[in-house]
Amino acid sequence: MPATVHDATALPSLLAEPALRNLPLMVLGAGSNVLFATDRFEGCLIQLQCASARIVSDDGEHALVRVDAGFDWDALVDWTLDHGLQGLENLALIPGQAGAAPIQNIGAYGVEVGKFIAAVHVCDSHTAAVDRLTAARCGFGYRDSVFKREPDRRIVTAIELRLPRSGATNLAYAGLSEELAAMGGLTPTPRNVAAAVRRIRRRKLPDPAVAGNAGSFFKNPVLARARAVELQSRFKGMPVFPASNDAEHKLSAAWLIEQAGWRGFSDGDAAVSAQHALVLVNLGRATGPQLLTLARRVAASVQEKFGVALEPEPRIVGATF
Ligand code: EPU
Repeated sequence: MPATVHDATALPSLLAEPALRNLPLMVLGAGSNVLFATDRFEGCLIQLQCASARIVSDDGEHALVRVDAGFDWDALVDWTLDHGLQGLENLALIPGQAGAAPIQNIGAYGVEVGKFIAAVHVCDSHTAAVDRLTAARCGFGYRDSVFKREPDRRIVTAIELRLPRSGATNLAYAGLSEELAAMGGLTPTPRNVAAAVRRIRRRKLPDPAVAGNAGSFFKNPVLARARAVELQSRFKGMPVFPASNDAEHKLSAAWLIEQAGWRGFSDGDAAVSAQHALVLVNLGRATGPQLLTLARRVAASVQEKFGVALEPEPRIVGATF
């Protein structure tokens, strides 16, 4: 049963409806990070279509922006730039809605959204109680948050972002400076960085509008530093990146998958992208279970070759990995 919500203040009364009691609830945004491993969902699928954004306060240096969950993420990046605000430019062109951004703490090109989130407004799907979780209560980690750890318990209705009006842009990702240089030596303004990020994404990642995909299908594995260094000495050319703390390192799941021979592999319409090994693509009529089978085969072979476990990044509905 689908339910579309145009005004988040109507959620508590919707949740109290007798027809919904005891039904499993699932909130679906743009569906850009979900794999349905079942063709039946016996519950209520909620879609939030509230999509306004406004500046709540502004001290000239930073502005606090409140955005409804249904606002398209990439359009929001442009909205903030149009209002002279920066910070989100590295996150340009990520598919999905603003309400999904905190759930897996979306990140790309050296920036995670958690850094800019001041608070997340939620409605508890069991009790219908509304709450405002400040960033400290969101438990943000690499592609992780309290919302991801307890799926569908809290329905995100809006987010608050604290964004600066000036300051240096983030060029930590090496390819960004190279892209700006290739664009004619552009200065790294927030707008130029957004344009560079969009160019990199269009070149590196398969377009979900052309071949269905959920972006990276696996998280980059985070290992104890000593273990990562030991693997790097055994496997020549293995990229290792810093993690959020000194005790750990991040491996490149794309590299592990490519080295295990999967880049460009297809089984019917379920495929490992030839463009980027971390992305599973649907070339036409692959089913969710077929993509899940392929993902399990990829993970098993990486485990066998490198002894490293891969964890899926998108939400999988109707099956466990
Ligand atoms: N590589 C390969 N084979 C490939 C692609 C990449 O070996 O087919 C290796 C290269 O050595 C490259 C390294 O992997 O240097 C890293 O590749 P890339 O810079 O494309 O980043 P990633 O680690 O594969 C992560 C995020 C992406 C994000 C990019 C850029 C995760 C799970 N993925 O990918 O996020 O756009 O960094 O910051 O952390 C997503 O989450 O859906 C997503 C696309």
